[in-house]
Amino acid sequence: MIHVDREDAVAVATVDRPDALNALDVATLTELCDRLRELAGDDAVRVVIVTGAGEKAFVAGADIKYMSRLDVAQAKEWGALGHEAGRLLETMPKPTIAAVNGFALGGGCELALACDLRYASGHAKLGQPEVNLGIIPGWGGTQRLARVCGLGVAKELIFTGRLVDADEALRIGLVNGVHDPVLDKARETAALLASKSPVSLRLMKELANRALGGDHAANLEAEGETFGELFASDDAREGLTAFVEKREPVFRGR
Ligand code: CAA
Repeated sequence: MIHVDREDAVAVATVDRPDALNALDVATLTELCDRLRELAGDDAVRVVIVTGAGEKAFVAGADIKYMSRLDVAQAKEWGALGHEAGRLLETMPKPTIAAVNGFALGGGCELALACDLRYASGHAKLGQPEVNLGIIPGWGGTQRLARVCGLGVAKELIFTGRLVDADEALRIGLVNGVHDPVLDKARETAALLASKSPVSLRLMKELANRALGGDHAANLEAEGETFGELFASDDAREGLTAFVEKREPVFRGR
C-alpha cells in the first residue's frame, strides 16, 4: 500500500509492501498513481517526496511474479501504468524528490529517475537488471537514465544489468547526494524548496524538462517569454521588493 504523510507543505508518499521489498504490483502501482494525482493537484502541497518503507528497499522493481504471467496486451497495459507514474512525477507542477533508502531496481530505479532530485542512503543499490529477466526497462529507463547520466553510462548499465552502489551512483550523476538517514536530507531539501516561490519552481521545472529535447532556439524563446510574463505575478513582486527592502520574502504561489 501507499502511505501519504504531510508535514506543512511537504508530502511524503511511502511505498509499503514489505513481503516483496516494495516491488510494485497492480494494486500498489495504481494506488501510487492515484495518490500522486491528488498531490499534483493540491496547492497546499509544495513538494512531494517518494520513498520506500523499511530499511532494505526503496522499490525492488515491478512485481516479477505478476509479470511472469502476462501476455502482450497485458504487458502493454502494465507498461502504460508505470509510464503514468513516471509522467506524474516528472510533470507535476512542483518538485519531486526520491529518497532512495535501499534497493532501487528496475521499475524502482525508473520511478526515482522520473523525480526531479534523487538522494541515496549509503547502502542503496540502483540499477536496471531487466536484461537478466530477458526483458527491457519498461517504465522509462531506456530514456530517462540517458537523460540523467548520459547515453554511454546508460547503455552500459541497461545492457549489463549491473547494479551501482551509492558512491558510484553519485559519481555518475544518478543521485544528487548520499546521506544517512536519507529521508532527513530529502525533508531538509523539501523544506527549503517549500520556502521558495511555487510559481518560479513550476515554471523552472516545465522549462528545464524541455532542455534535453525539442528545439533549443524555441526552448530559449519559451524561457524568455515566461521570464517576462512572470513579472505580472505577486511572487515576483514580493521577491524583488523584499530584496530591495532588505527583508525575507514570503511567497504565496500567485
Ligand atoms: N518482484 C516480486 N517480488 C520481489 C521482487 C520483485 N521485483 N524483488 C524482491 N521480491 C521478493 C522476493 O521474491 C522475496 O519474496 P519471497 O520470500 O516470497 O520469495 C522477497 O521479496 C525478499 O527478496 P529476496 O529474498 O530475494 O531478498 P534478497 O536480499 O536475497 O535479494 C534483491 C534482494 C537483490 C533485491 C532480490 O530480491 C532481487 O534481485 N529482486 C529482483 C530485482 C529486479 O530484478 N527488479 C527488476 C524487476 S523488472 C522491472 O522492474 C521491469 C520494469 O522496468 C517495469
